[in-house]
Formats: sequence, C-alpha cells, structure tokens
Amino acid sequence: MGADLEKVLIAKEDIDAKLVELAAEIDRDYAGKDLLIVGVLKGAVMVMADLARALSSNVTMDWMAVSSYGAGTKSSGVVRILKDLDTDIAGRHVLIVEDIIDSGLTLSWLISNLGSRGPASLEVCTLLRKPDAAKVRIDVKYTGFDIPNEFVVGYGLDYSEKYRNLPFVGTLAPHVYGG
Ligand code: PRP
Ligand code: MN
Ligand code: MG
Repeated sequence: MGADLEKVLIAKEDIDAKLVELAAEIDRDYAGKDLLIVGVLKGAVMVMADLARALSSNVTMDWMAVSSYGAGTKSSGVVRILKDLDTDIAGRHVLIVEDIIDSGLTLSWLISNLGSRGPASLEVCTLLRKPDAAKVRIDVKYTGFDIPNEFVVGYGLDYSEKYRNLPFVGTLAPHVYGG
C-alpha cells in the first residue's frame, strides 16, 4: 500500500458494486429522458468513467473545472470557472457527478450557477460525502458512501495532485500532510 497511506477505507470492489447500484437507480429515474452527466474536474474523473460505463441508458457527458479562490483557503465558497460546459443546459436533465462533498461549498455554488441556466432538472451524484464536515446543506439524490471526517485520497481524490490514480479510497498517514 505504501508508507504514505494509512489504510484502505473503501476497496475497489466496494466502489464498483456501489456504482452499479447507483447506475441502476439513475437508469430507472431517467428512463425515457435524455440525461446529461456533468463531471467536476479533476476529482470526478474516475467516478464519471466508471458510473457512465455502468449505465445502460445512453447519456451525454460534459465537464466543468472550477477553482476556489480568495484568502488561499480551499473552500472559500467563492468559485471561479476554469472550464465551462460546452453544452447549453437549458431544458436539459442534468446530473452533476462529484467524487466527494466535503464542506459542500463547491457544489452549493455549482448548483446555483447551473440552476440559473434553466435546466429541466438538476440533481447531484457523489461517491463520497463527509456529513461531519458540511458547512451548507445540499440535497444529494445519489450518494455512494458517508465517510468520517478524515483526509482521504485515491480514486480521483488528491493530496497536492498526488494519489488520484489509486484504484481505492484510502486515508493518508498524518506524517504526509504534517499531522
Ligand atoms: C475537491 C473535490 C470536490 C471538492 C469538495 O475538489 O473533488 O470537488 O473539493 O470540497 P467542498 O465540498 O469542501 O467544496 P478540489 O477543489 O480539490 O479540486 P480537484 O477536483 O481538482 O481535486
Ligand atoms: Mn473536485
Ligand atoms: Mg483536490
């Protein structure tokens, strides 16, 4: 596993099984509708790739890249668009796909931003959620796992851009981030 990692929190098999479950729900809920799934770069890359392949319905995919800025702190809630959607979402059924909801500030901003563009519907799917870290309440239609408020990496999630390619979600050893 490597000295930087403390433990595996969610194994690859459990992620795969959960995404198959979520995909079945999504297939059912959007049956007969055109669905656009929107991945939030970069963390959501793995979830998008595996969730999309678990769906039986035909969906279209688009991507957004956003960044918090302001007093240097991560989730200031003030968000800047680094890459906008290529798609006009007016009248479309849109599902935002995230790897994790931590404070919820990024997603809360995204929901109001995309919501103002007149989608037919707007929902959220996240693999992970940290209920104890939430600063704002967000209605999440599809949640994979609620996890404790620990520093997690892997399966898209990074620490200083590292560890995204791990096939599982693990916790980082405190010595790595100075804990
Ligand atoms: C991470 C994660 C979520 C967001 C959650 O993205 O992928 O998008 O933070 O945090 P919040 O709920 O506190 O707002 P990050 O900004 O690190 O960018 P990345 O996806 O490129 O890693
Ligand atoms: Mn992200
Ligand atoms: Mg990150």
